[in-house]
Amino acid sequence: MQENREQWSSKTSFILAAAGSAVGLGNIWKFPYIAGENGGAAFLFIYLICIILIGLPILNIEILLGRTTKKNPVGAFVALSDSTFWKYVGVLGVFASFTILSFYSVVGGWSIAYTYEALIGTFNTTAFDNPSAAGKFFDLKNSSAAWVLGYHTLFLSLVVIILLSGVRAGLEKASKFLMPVLIFILLILVVQGLILPDANKGVSFLFQPDWSKINGQTILLALGHAFFTLSLGMGAMMTYGSYLSDKDDVVNASYLVAFLDTIIAIFAGLAIFTVVFSSGYDPTAGPGLVFHVLPPLLSDLVGGYIFAFLFFLLLSIAAITSGISILEVSVAYLVDEKNVPRKKAVLIMASLVYLAAIPCALSFNILSESTFDFQGKPFTFFDIADYLASNVLLPLGGLFLAIFAGYFWGIDDVIKNLLVGESNSIYFGNSIAKSKNFKSIFGFTVKYICPFLIFLVFLYSIGWI
Ligand code: PFF
Repeated sequence: MQENREQWSSKTSFILAAAGSAVGLGNIWKFPYIAGENGGAAFLFIYLICIILIGLPILNIEILLGRTTKKNPVGAFVALSDSTFWKYVGVLGVFASFTILSFYSVVGGWSIAYTYEALIGTFNTTAFDNPSAAGKFFDLKNSSAAWVLGYHTLFLSLVVIILLSGVRAGLEKASKFLMPVLIFILLILVVQGLILPDANKGVSFLFQPDWSKINGQTILLALGHAFFTLSLGMGAMMTYGSYLSDKDDVVNASYLVAFLDTIIAIFAGLAIFTVVFSSGYDPTAGPGLVFHVLPPLLSDLVGGYIFAFLFFLLLSIAAITSGISILEVSVAYLVDEKNVPRKKAVLIMASLVYLAAIPCALSFNILSESTFDFQGKPFTFFDIADYLASNVLLPLGGLFLAIFAGYFWGIDDVIKNLLVGESNSIYFGNSIAKSKNFKSIFGFTVKYICPFLIFLVFLYSIGWI
């Protein structure tokens, strides 16, 4: 199996695919609404600290583990350690990929549905006069189980079609085509947002911190989101890293992926908050922000028809390039560990995810009353999948990864492997990994800072502190 393993055709292809995984609903749907609910700039600041202190080192380790072992998360841990404990950490990653895709696919479905609605001009009708009318439209559509399930099926089918073609012809080709389109659409939306009257209010919301909004819950959200947005803690980056050759560097690629992901989240925030503030609306609308608030506001603008369409197309593209990386984790597991042929593995795993997603899709209609009380709030299956993945499974996966790299694999070996393939980067001129203090800073962060901070935040997330 190992000899036939596919590889990316170039380092740039890997970077685009990894950025495609990182840039997703997390950047365009989730980041703006959690930033909106948690003080805008203050949240952005904490989130950036989490990316730099925790996200970046873990991203390096994940990609490195993949590149070194050329395996899926389960196989990677098995290759480097005899203990079955680490094997189960890999299994936890496969479980997390199911959990995430089960709600991700529902939101991906909404994005495609809204692209279609924008195309047929629904947003220019009276159903979209204002955000509360748009909210009613959203609820009405979601009250139909067939509508939600239908678009979830369409989303997952697109993911499956890409994965069936394999790494180069599927994952790589899709990312190489879709990522530039995504960046182009986003730039158009940012520019149109910035030239609106009162756009500066949206800009200051994103860049002028209101510290009173920060508390333990905000820090937990920022950390959980740092994992989610960089696709960390469940082996997606490890799996993508496993298709790298030893000649490709890891450190510079990680910095570039994290940079692209962060800048795209900030741009999405700019595109959305400039529109929201210029229309005098409230940025704290929650998960419905892009589905309730944005369509009526966008379609009111000059050229609104096209902007609304472009926005939802952007959201759909971002969701698809991330969705493929989530499913690829469990596909690679079946291919590597169980010798299942790739096409069969894709179909088996997609069918299982399809079933797992049904309770999430029905959370807005048939199962909307089936809620569980958590921290005083009713949680639907959809809410549980989202909370469990972002705030528990991914940080836990990250915690184990840092402990594995710092104490079991060992920092010396990690650095030795990191230096393999570190050329003088075409992107940075110099290899960051070869710089003077890299080893000590990286080692200290991985051994002490990451586990300690993640552990604290994790205890908070399960209500123990
Ligand atoms: N990073 C993706 C986003 O921001 O939407 C979500 C994601 C993809 C999470 C892959 C985890 C993962 F393994």
